[in-house]
Amino acid sequence: MKVLVVGGGGREHALVWKLVQDSSRPTVFCAPGNAGTAEMAENLPLAAEDLEGIQSWAVRERPDLVVVGPEVPLCAGLADRLTAAGLRVFGPNRAAAELEGSKIFSKAVMEAAGVPTARSAVYTDPAAALAGIRAMGLPVVIKADGLAAGKGVAICQSEDEVERAVRECLVEGVFGDAGKRLLAEEYLEGEEASVLAFVDGRQAVLMASAQDHKRIFDGDRGPNTGGMGAYSPAPVMTPDRLETIRREVFDRTLAELRRRGIDYRGVLYAGIMMTDRGPRVLEFNCRFGDPETQVILPRLEGDLIPILNACIDGCLNPDLVRWSPDPCVCVVMAAGGYPGAIRKGDVITGGDAANALPGVVVFHAGTRSEGGRVVTAGGRVLGVTARAADLPQAVRRVYEAVERIRFEGLQFRRDIAGRALKRLRS
Ligand code: AMP
Ligand code: GLY
Repeated sequence: MKVLVVGGGGREHALVWKLVQDSSRPTVFCAPGNAGTAEMAENLPLAAEDLEGIQSWAVRERPDLVVVGPEVPLCAGLADRLTAAGLRVFGPNRAAAELEGSKIFSKAVMEAAGVPTARSAVYTDPAAALAGIRAMGLPVVIKADGLAAGKGVAICQSEDEVERAVRECLVEGVFGDAGKRLLAEEYLEGEEASVLAFVDGRQAVLMASAQDHKRIFDGDRGPNTGGMGAYSPAPVMTPDRLETIRREVFDRTLAELRRRGIDYRGVLYAGIMMTDRGPRVLEFNCRFGDPETQVILPRLEGDLIPILNACIDGCLNPDLVRWSPDPCVCVVMAAGGYPGAIRKGDVITGGDAANALPGVVVFHAGTRSEGGRVVTAGGRVLGVTARAADLPQAVRRVYEAVERIRFEGLQFRRDIAGRALKRLRS
């Protein structure tokens, strides 16, 4: 059994880590991977966006399964290419990945399907946008339509911020083609959580819920990042609410996609705001979350490969998807300067000492090996993860592990899972 994982971040290290434990004992490859995946799989010198290169490798080596991590290759049609070449791919085809690739398409699907989401309007002309958005009132959320590596969303509290966001998108072209159209959206208040599901074309089987921490600093201050930490489960997602979300978000979306002739197989990720009027979808992603995967997969009981295969074959049995009750917490250790210009090439020490703690796994994200040492190579460097019998223990353990790791300029949040701890205490 040969499996290829496409991508090289913390999410992909978590996928590789879970896949190598599969009872089928697969040989795992990762393109391009990082220093962490290199310890348990064979890294390939192929970028995740190198569709040609990945396709030629896969056609030559015939892996039994390809798992695509990031959105960029999915939205560019990697699954379509590999499927056409007779390979088995876990990840949606290009048309289905448009749920993440175009926020305007995604909103149109939600509206047609009756999925609860923020009210919105689409603009391509700057003057019309300013006039229309002014009429919506403040605060307002302005989103570039296409993929913008998490930077395309502006929460505007003032007219100045609206003007700047509209100008960046529609006039200056800061987001390139991704910002040729924008979506202006009603601002929603509440607690945010991530609900991911395995989807087999017809049904969605929900994963354990998770909560991400997007801002760089403690107390949710400072600029947005790719995610500074996560924990699972998210207590705000009660079983009742999850059931509502399964019906009103996932089932309705999949039915609407089918009506449009779109076959969704892979992970569907809904970013949800729990408002006092119920759940509202903020966004769809067409893939596993990062760092959510780092706290979700360690809680998955049993093998992952049969679940992925069942999604590909359109026959996912919900009984295959079982979760440990133990919570899991991940603290991201980021490079100095992140989310702006970052330092690279700093030596990382203490990873083994951290991994030696019970229940701890240090997932690598932006790392590479250099002369037998592991050095920093990206903004989010490590995702230190701990699973324990209860949340306070998992939080204590994860920070104990973090304290054992050193590299120049490191930064991390000290309040990961703080909201859930507070909920437990009250
Ligand atoms: P998105 O990529 O659409 O999820 O947006 C990134 C982040 O912006 C989300 O995780 C939310 O924290 C915030 N956000 C997006 N849309 C809204 C909204 N309508 N109201 C409030 N916050 C939002
Ligand atoms: N953690 C947010 C994302 O994966 O998009």
